[in-house]
Amino acid sequence: MNIGIIGYGVMGEAIASALVRQHGCEVVVVFDVDPTRCACAQESSVTVIGSIAAMLPKVEILVLAVKPQQYHVLASEMNGHIGHHLVISIMAGISLDQLEEQLDTSRVVRTMPNTPAQIGQGLTVWIASGGVTPQDKLETEQILSAFGKHLELKNEDMVNAATAISGSGPAYVFLLAQALEESAIALGFDRETARLLVTETLRGSSALYYDQRQVAPQELRRRVTSPGGTTNAAMESLGVEKFVELWKAATQAAYKRAQELSQR
Ligand SMILES: NC(=O)c1ccc[n+]([C@@H]2O[C@H](COP(=O)([O-])OP(=O)(O)OC[C@H]3O[C@@H](n4cnc5c(N)ncnc54)[C@H](OP(=O)(O)O)[C@@H]3O)[C@@H](O)[C@H]2O)c1
Repeated sequence: MNIGIIGYGVMGEAIASALVRQHGCEVVVVFDVDPTRCACAQESSVTVIGSIAAMLPKVEILVLAVKPQQYHVLASEMNGHIGHHLVISIMAGISLDQLEEQLDTSRVVRTMPNTPAQIGQGLTVWIASGGVTPQDKLETEQILSAFGKHLELKNEDMVNAATAISGSGPAYVFLLAQALEESAIALGFDRETARLLVTETLRGSSALYYDQRQVAPQELRRRVTSPGGTTNAAMESLGVEKFVELWKAATQAAYKRAQELSQR
């Protein structure tokens, strides 16, 4: 499989390095309009190419990794030039219809990865358009497995919903990390110790949550919380129900935004 990645930003780089790491023998060709990003790509084991026109004959699979707002310009450049290619998009909120219409192909896969893909521990949800063959699906799964786990969805609106949970999710976790680090510093720890306390707590708790995934998180939380104890004092101060409602509102906002982007 020769794979072309258009857009070598945060995600493009993560995907390229995951592919090189996992599928070492494959050819990964990248193109970015930003020369500094091309220079950065040149330092890794990928082939950097000077234009999309030069890339297309060299690859069978195209991964679109530009920002959603940059897609329409990119599509006008590519329209009419997609031939034998399977197109895999990672752009948030760009629908299968938008991909099929603007690229003039029915072999497209819409995916939503997340940034832990950078270390092979991502989760990517995906949905395929009608022209995608069983072989295309196998190749899609092979590529996505380089970033971690993957899940095929059958209803496209659930890709928007997953964008609000697993796509944006790492930012929610990093917000918690930030809040805990700042809290630790306010309690008198230096930044280095605060980071150690928080990274180890998040790492250990994530591993425990995963290990005991048949147990509801409420129950895992209850096991840390004794009546009248320290955790209970924190939970009361936070207002657990209010906190959960805040997150439902935040993820609804992300979901609505993904829907808006898909309808443009
Ligand atoms: N970051 C995440 O957590 C995350 C998670 C899931 C999905 N995604 C999706 O991944 C995509 C990429 O996100 P990102 O954070 O990696 O963005 P990014 O860092 O901005 O990378 C995009 C790169 O593509 C370049 N580019 C723009 N137009 C181009 C064109 N026509 N041809 C070639 N290169 C072009 C950009 O150059 P300029 O900077 O010069 O414009 C930039 O270097 C987005 O669609 C996003 O929705 C991101």
